Amino acid sequence: MHTQHQAHGAFAGRSTRRYDFMARRLMRGFYRRIAEDVALLAPNGADILDVGTGPGVLLTETARRRPDVSITGIDPSADMIAAATRNIEPYPGRVHARIGSAAEVPSDDAAFDLVVTSLSLHHWDDVAASVAELARVLRPGGQIVVFDLARAPFGELDAAADAHSGLSSAACHTTIGTGVPHVRRIERHVLHATAEAAQPR
Ligand SMILES: C[S@@+](CC[C@H](N)C(=O)[O-])C[C@H]1O[C@@H](n2cnc3c(N)ncnc32)[C@H](O)[C@@H]1O
Repeated sequence: MHTQHQAHGAFAGRSTRRYDFMARRLMRGFYRRIAEDVALLAPNGADILDVGTGPGVLLTETARRRPDVSITGIDPSADMIAAATRNIEPYPGRVHARIGSAAEVPSDDAAFDLVVTSLSLHHWDDVAASVAELARVLRPGGQIVVFDLARAPFGELDAAADAHSGLSSAACHTTIGTGVPHVRRIERHVLHATAEAAQPR
């Protein structure tokens, strides 16, 4: 039976070990660039969620820049979470890695000030259900920041946000140059929660 947390074969076993190596060694500049953004956007003492964290390099790069924040990374792949758990060892107590997915976050309602995700949106099975779930765990006034390749389903993402009374895509779209050969440019869309709790329309 398919479950929300079932990992795609591309993110298990040897593929995960390859991705972990690539993320830590070859793409470090990419995560540094994104973490700079995340560090600027996070309020003081923020609780941050990274959706589809993979080996968790964004977790460590953000934690290094912002010693005041707590960060949780979730991913449906147990192998990715095992890699992330190793990589976050230098940050005990305030950086966590757990099994979960965009459509099934293992957290209470309104648990996070900022939700981020990088290179993961294009893997989500059900974008609308995922946006509703991320809205559930977002605090009023919080933001969901989505970084991905231009071919990712950003149209679906924005439409799903605009279908929520508490969320708006607000045309906050930016293209970012990363300086990293494998992923030279990525898109960034920001979804804003209103001051009220985010509820479906
Ligand atoms: C290309 S990797 C990106 C990993 C990491 N965020 C990064 O920037 O390197 C995509 C990740 O999304 C995860 N993923 C796949 N489907 C997902 C879903 N429905 N919700 C959350 N993450 C998902 C995969 O397991 C994988 O770790």
